[in-house]
Amino acid sequence: MRTHYSGEITLSHVQQPVILCGWVHRRRDHGGIIFIDLRDRTGLVQVVFSPDHKPLFKQAEHLRHEYVVRIEGAVRERPPGTVNADLATGQVEVLATSLEVFNRSESLPFQLDDYTDVSEETRLRYRVIDLRRPEMRERLRLRGQVNHFLRNFLEAQGFWEFETPFLTKSTPEGARDYLVPSRTYPGRFFALPQSPQLFKQLLMMGGMDRYYQITRCFRDEDLRRDRQPEFTQLDIEASFIDEAFIMSLLEGMMRALFSEVLKVELPNPFPRMTYTDAVSRYGCDKPDLRHNLEIIDIKDLVQQVEFKVFRDAGQGAENRVVTLRVPKGCSLLSRQAIDTYTESVCRLGAKGLAYIKVNDRAQGMKGLQSPILKFLPEPIVEAILKRAQAQTDDLLFFGADRAFVVNNAFSVLRDRLAEDLNLMQGKWAPLWVTEFPMFEKGDEGGWQALHHPFTAPCVKTTEELLTHPGRAKSRAYDLVLNGVELGGGSIRIHQESMQRAVFSILNIDSQQAEEKFGFLLEGLKYGCPPHGGFAFGLDRLVMLMTGAKSIRDVIAFPKTQTASCPLTMAPTLVSAEQLRELGLKVIEK
Ligand code: AMO
Ligand code: AMP
Repeated sequence: MRTHYSGEITLSHVQQPVILCGWVHRRRDHGGIIFIDLRDRTGLVQVVFSPDHKPLFKQAEHLRHEYVVRIEGAVRERPPGTVNADLATGQVEVLATSLEVFNRSESLPFQLDDYTDVSEETRLRYRVIDLRRPEMRERLRLRGQVNHFLRNFLEAQGFWEFETPFLTKSTPEGARDYLVPSRTYPGRFFALPQSPQLFKQLLMMGGMDRYYQITRCFRDEDLRRDRQPEFTQLDIEASFIDEAFIMSLLEGMMRALFSEVLKVELPNPFPRMTYTDAVSRYGCDKPDLRHNLEIIDIKDLVQQVEFKVFRDAGQGAENRVVTLRVPKGCSLLSRQAIDTYTESVCRLGAKGLAYIKVNDRAQGMKGLQSPILKFLPEPIVEAILKRAQAQTDDLLFFGADRAFVVNNAFSVLRDRLAEDLNLMQGKWAPLWVTEFPMFEKGDEGGWQALHHPFTAPCVKTTEELLTHPGRAKSRAYDLVLNGVELGGGSIRIHQESMQRAVFSILNIDSQQAEEKFGFLLEGLKYGCPPHGGFAFGLDRLVMLMTGAKSIRDVIAFPKTQTASCPLTMAPTLVSAEQLRELGLKVIEK
């Protein structure tokens, strides 16, 4: 049907006949000549319809945006002065000799080069059109290349690809399950996997040694910029390995991927940081290290001061009082900017955002400016300034509250400040976070697994774990890139007794353990090798690699923030007949 792609026509094709197929991207009439930009997935080329060829010219007059056509013609060099330097094919054009219209198009709901007025809802509703934008094409293409690269890399390292079921039983990763009713067992449900975690462990027990899979995971959770209800993981597991093996494999893979696909050299090795360090210095376990704004504890300094906010927070063990130094903050931050940051931390649960402006460090208290100074004695202020290494023109922000509130507010604040004040120092900042606690206290006071319940603890005996669950660290590691949690993994529990101990700490009694994870416990009985693995969020990886603002921009057909699909209108109601077959009844909420 065609001989060439539009975007590939160059001077080397001059005088050659070509047949092109694609969409009419634009049509311009210039003094009796019709120009169209013909588009296919490779790009654009200009096609010329000359009035000398009357019937053809008449036909071309009917062409409109997005008509789908086949054009025969001859390539010629563009006349001097008409070369388009912005276009790969800008030195040539195709003089049309024949035109076939495969299909017309109604006028589009939005123009392909219109970026301001189109809501995301509209883009997703008309995804077919949105996908024609070069950005979408490039991002999805890069996604495919990333998949291809990762498969090749892992195959070369002796990893084998296996598929695991979608219709299965709950695989807990901390979210709600998507359930699928069974017709053959009325009243029973499959759960879509939140990850292939248990199956990849079973594959290790089955002796497969090294597994990988690029697969969909399903999680019914609150959605954000970097979360989708169904998303893709590059999932990996290996036997007879330790943390060092997995981390060096994945680092090597990331460096090779970035070098090959983006021509970017990532650091070697990636920096590492413990969970405790990350939370204390940056307020979160996925700090963005492209900038170096740090949170500094000052609780020990303010326990006796008159300023009630600091004094009260200074007392409780579960509280934090911190400062964040903004270099040159006095010059850079207006009163209004400070108010805006205050509002934003308050939206995150903080009760305020105290500050001190260091107008002149040499002048002691006189050189400072702040509404809270009158409640703080001079020696304390001096100690705070010293600890924060404050200099003239710096501004110090303060937070005092329950540790989780301060951490939450200040981890967001530091990133926002860095973004607003252009403090980003490099383009790529990968980081390993290690030594996570095994458990954290849930809302109801019981222990919850910080990763998943199959992660091995750093303890020698089950007794040690059972006596002090709160002290145990896990053998888990997360990979962070630019403040985004790209992936996580761990060495797994490979002994039944330890797995049962973890379940009991999580308040899963042995009957529940049998019901939920009987197949895993059984697998552990029959010679389970030590094993461990990792999973990358592929959508997040591609989002970062393409510079997309949201993971929805690197997924061909994503869901909205409320987990629906404006294109197909899913989820939809089903017929009474279908419900009857499944033994289901819908109760109006
Ligand atoms: P985890 O739950 O950390 O680990 O998931 C691994 C990675 O998957 C990505 N991810 C998501 N991406 C988009 N939308 C979501 N809703 C979403 N949820 C998670 C993140 C995350 O780092 N089975 C373990 C891995 C293991 O232990 O081997 C697991 O699933 O990038
Ligand atoms: P107030 O005593 O409420 O007038 O607050 C004095 C200053 O302290 C204001 O700048 C508040 O934004 C700030 N502030 C109040 N509560 C907190 C808090 N928990 N942490 C940090 N700053 C606070």
